[in-house]
Amino acid sequence: MEHNFWHNKWQINQIGFHQKDEHSGLINHFPKLASGAKVLVPLCGKTVDMIWLAQQGYHVVGVELSELAAHAFLEENQLTATRKDIQLEGHSFVVFTCEALRIELYIGDFFKFNISDFDGIYDRAALIALPENMRSEYVQRCRSLLAAKSKVFVVSIEYDKTIASGPPFSVEEQEIVSLWEREAHLLSADDLIEQESRWREKGLTSFIEKVWLLEC
Ligand SMILES: C[S@@+](CC[C@H](N)C(=O)[O-])C[C@H]1O[C@@H](n2cnc3c(N)ncnc32)[C@H](O)[C@@H]1O
Repeated sequence: MEHNFWHNKWQINQIGFHQKDEHSGLINHFPKLASGAKVLVPLCGKTVDMIWLAQQGYHVVGVELSELAAHAFLEENQLTATRKDIQLEGHSFVVFTCEALRIELYIGDFFKFNISDFDGIYDRAALIALPENMRSEYVQRCRSLLAAKSKVFVVSIEYDKTIASGPPFSVEEQEIVSLWEREAHLLSADDLIEQESRWREKGLTSFIEKVWLLEC
């Protein structure tokens, strides 16, 4: 997906992926990490899930292309932050560091983000936002940023790919396991088709959201 595709979505506020409340899978199933553990939220948008993670005592780092998303996140959650321009190996990023909660937002291309040693990843609508030909590089990048014994939490979607296509893309267990080369534990599976009229109108009869924990 081109950067402009996403910048445009934010500009015209076509952000149907954004959820007002914290994801129930996160609240019910996110593994307990050590206090102060570093959690990476790739392709974070303006998700309030980052607030919940920070409230659990984790140091949250979100990475997002759109600076509009960062401003919306701060404003909607009444957070103040400092703003700094930085370079990561020659690539430009803007970093917002929140004052009240331990959240940093790196605005730039995740594929160029190279700060490492994360204890966990929270991936909701990140892997499944990317077309198949970008997923391997995405997971390689994530893997390069993780500390040993890290936990990876992934929320995926499965539907009949002969009827509809993404984003969000349908990504099945086999692909997740083969990309991550980790065992995948299914934590929950829910059919969201009743509440997803857009996907029903395309002819889908199921739209299953799955929550996975990938462990070493
Ligand atoms: C489907 S949205 C999901 C956002 C968030 N995870 C959520 O649950 O609301 C995907 C997000 O990834 C961002 N994005 C896409 N490509 C990116 C890239 N290469 N680097 C950083 N962010 C990216 C988009 O701007 C968009 O906000």
